Amino acid sequence: MPEILTFDSPLAAAQACGDKILQLIDAARRERGLATLAVSGGHTPRLMFEWMAPRPFDWSGIELFQVDERCVPPDSDQSNYRMMRESLLDAVRIPAKQVHRVDTSLAPADAARTYADEIRGILKVKAGELPVFDVIQLGMGPDGHTASLFPGEPLVQDRAGVTAAVWVEKFKQHRVTLLPGVLQRARHTLSLVTGADKAEALQAVLRGPVDSAQFPIQLVASQAVWYIDGSADAKLQS
Ligand code: 6PG
Repeated sequence: MPEILTFDSPLAAAQACGDKILQLIDAARRERGLATLAVSGGHTPRLMFEWMAPRPFDWSGIELFQVDERCVPPDSDQSNYRMMRESLLDAVRIPAKQVHRVDTSLAPADAARTYADEIRGILKVKAGELPVFDVIQLGMGPDGHTASLFPGEPLVQDRAGVTAAVWVEKFKQHRVTLLPGVLQRARHTLSLVTGADKAEALQAVLRGPVDSAQFPIQLVASQAVWYIDGSADAKLQS
């Protein structure tokens, strides 16, 4: 059974998740000289990044990646990078070369390939192997999607690839996303899920039958530590 931590508010869940991430990447850096962290976008992580930003944390040796990105300019209000820059990067001293964003100036498929090459390079991935991130932080949509792996997305079955460009019909948007094989290999997976709109999906994901085609976050549900708030937790108790 996954570890589920329920907090009184979205802010408390975000703060706890942010603190855990800092603790885990610090430990990884002490163990291996560097730490690799991939974070999600959307709205939920903003509170977490805003909490992490003023912490007296030394970001040297931390390689920061995106779990997924919308194929929009980095200054678009849809950009996950913009949200991360505004809420975290502009406030912390992390060298630009340690921040690895999806290059959305490229065509989606090229952006995915380029990003995968960057990941392989920094994580020193041997041929035929998959990258192992120290920490991957995920969110979940009300439909049980995670990263940019949405219900019905065939790539939910993929176990060999690193990244891919996907078309998300519901948002009429191309995105670049990490693929299941990478998500499942993380040394630590933290799912930060808050809000009443997630309660229904959370119950299905954590208490219902496993069907990752319908609920892609079930790819990692059992390995993740879940940071949720009371409103997202509402149906779990029933
Ligand atoms: C994205 C995210 C996505 C997100 C969920 C939850 O690009 O949108 O990476 O997987 O985690 O959609 O989004 P909210 O935090 O906005 O609810």
